Amino acid sequence: MNELVPDPVTDVVDLPSIAFIGGGNMASAIIGGLVAQDFAAADIIVANPGVGRRLHLAEKFGVRTTDSAADAVASAPVVVLAVKPDVLGSVLADIAAAGRIKGRLFISIVAGKPVKVMEKALGDEAAIVRTMPNMPVLVGSGATGLYANRNVSEDQLNTAIALMSAVGICVPLDDEAHLDTVTALSGTGPAYFFLLMEEMIKAGKQLGLDHDTARALTLQTALGAAELAVSSDENPASLRARVTSPNGTTEQAIGSLVSSGFGPLIEQAIRKAKRRVAELAGS
Ligand SMILES: NC(=O)c1ccc[n+]([C@@H]2O[C@H](COP(=O)([O-])OP(=O)(O)OC[C@H]3O[C@@H](n4cnc5c(N)ncnc54)[C@H](OP(=O)(O)O)[C@@H]3O)[C@@H](O)[C@H]2O)c1
Repeated sequence: MNELVPDPVTDVVDLPSIAFIGGGNMASAIIGGLVAQDFAAADIIVANPGVGRRLHLAEKFGVRTTDSAADAVASAPVVVLAVKPDVLGSVLADIAAAGRIKGRLFISIVAGKPVKVMEKALGDEAAIVRTMPNMPVLVGSGATGLYANRNVSEDQLNTAIALMSAVGICVPLDDEAHLDTVTALSGTGPAYFFLLMEEMIKAGKQLGLDHDTARALTLQTALGAAELAVSSDENPASLRARVTSPNGTTEQAIGSLVSSGFGPLIEQAIRKAKRRVAELAGS
């Protein structure tokens, strides 16, 4: 756990039993994070249509599995919705038809599906948490924004935060609209860093290094810079100032980036991503 946000109030081992609807990459990563923190695999059930995937999850983690979402939620007070967006509607309809809503907390990791869509399917009284995780959840270093509707109790909110904190940091938000910014910032963010890495590797090669050397040095530099920024009390701007000596190499490179409009370019990219979130929600 890094120092960016306080540790969750609720310990993972104290969480109630959990049903995952959808047992794909994201669900598997979260289950892995929970089990690694000693949450009992027997208290997890996964609903997934593909039998191969069910066998894989049962073997890897010791979780229970089923092909029915409605069956999975029967004895679980916490339900993690981890299906693709186009499947969410039918999954919620199945759960609603089985009358398995009351007393449960629904935590969605499904991109682009607002709380009102889930309330329409589950009813106005359903306790719903909508989250926006990002791809590094897959390696336990995710950044998740989280919004809870008015029906979510303090205990349930702590449960949701603890669950998503099993695979990184989790930041609660007081306004669902902020999730659009979170999507454009940290949801889409890994790709911005991948692009920077790609371009640095390319430049290293153009200046004479072989691919493996340029790649190894670039990736370790990204990791080292992130670790330093996360573990330091200083903000990135002052860390950058510390490695920038007057007339030195860093000053040349940073000066070139800044005069080429690097800052405004990043802001514009994030604004465009946010605008696209709104367009996709309306389509
Ligand atoms: N990947 C990311 O970086 C990321 C980041 C933020 C948010 N998300 C969100 O996370 C969600 C899951 O993404 P993912 O990458 O884990 O996708 P995924 O690997 O494709 O997993 C989705 C799983 O849902 C299962 N499924 C399909 N229909 C189902 C049904 N009716 N009932 C239960 N399970 C069903 C699929 O099973 P079969 O394969 O057997 O059909 C599959 O195992 C998506 O909504 C995505 O928007 C992902």
